[in-house]
Amino acid sequence: MSAPLLQVSNLNIDYEVSKAGSWRKHTLTVVKDVSFHIGAGETYGLVGESGSGKSTIGKAILRLADVTQGRVLFDGTDISTFGKNTPLSYRSDVQAVFQDPIASQNPRHTVGRSVTDALKRHGIGDAARRHRRAVEAFEQVGLREGHLERYPSQLSGGQLQRVSIARALVLEPRLLVCDEALSALDLSTQSQIIDLLDRLQTEMGMSYLFIAHDLAVVRHISHRIGVLKKGVLVEQGDAEQVFSHPEHEYTRALLAATPASHPRDRRRQATLAA
Ligand SMILES: Nc1ncnc2c1ncn2[C@@H]1O[C@H](COP(=O)(O)OP(=O)(O)OP(=O)(O)O)[C@@H](O)[C@H]1O
Ligand SMILES: [Mg+2]
Repeated sequence: MSAPLLQVSNLNIDYEVSKAGSWRKHTLTVVKDVSFHIGAGETYGLVGESGSGKSTIGKAILRLADVTQGRVLFDGTDISTFGKNTPLSYRSDVQAVFQDPIASQNPRHTVGRSVTDALKRHGIGDAARRHRRAVEAFEQVGLREGHLERYPSQLSGGQLQRVSIARALVLEPRLLVCDEALSALDLSTQSQIIDLLDRLQTEMGMSYLFIAHDLAVVRHISHRIGVLKKGVLVEQGDAEQVFSHPEHEYTRALLAATPASHPRDRRRQATLAA
């Protein structure tokens, strides 16, 4: 078997926090000895209750959080060897889509510009080429050329999330970190974006780290799953296996607290019940 695209080994992440009413700082270990890998073209779902450390792991991979101990290897390279300046190639290979599509756009720029600016930062093409690439990416995510001229306030949440995905796509990433990327969207938009991510993975062979608290969505989209409890990966394995035969009590409790199906079916159920 060839080496995985991403290999996270024995990852530990500490935060220094001050206690209320005190100047003293103490160390909080929020990620503890976490190891997992993601293969090319594979989706790894990371689940766990709020505060369990999911986003912190995503941030470490994106180099937005410092690693205290352990290693993150991307395509065989230890990312800690990059030092302070993350190479442009890594910044295009690893892209992210976050929960709040409005916060991730500049309200004063058209959404088309947010995409062409991303290309410009990476030194890709001239203005005409960048515009053409933005149009292509918008079409890939189901938006039209006319949407490029809109400001963020002139688009719906689902359309804006498509813009975020288009902006990530133009850089042709090999790994997309989706951190609660669907959580702010209604069920119908969620299922459209899930189908889009599925299609893009088939077409482009991208890998996803899919972080979400909605287990039904994670189950649908992931090949493998990791279950995080207070910074510890208590269970991981094939998605269907983990969902149908959870080994850890915590996984069973998470599953018991979740609606069962894909958003598309839940939407259908909601319509039937109305
Ligand atoms: N910059 C920071 N400084 C100190 N503590 C932090 C910082 N960022 C996160 N934490 C703490 O680390 C823990 C893990 O946070 P994280 O954001 O990774 O959780 P999460 O699993 O993504 O939760 P959610 O599902 O609510 O998004 C929490 O206890 C949080 O309070
Ligand atoms: Mg989070």
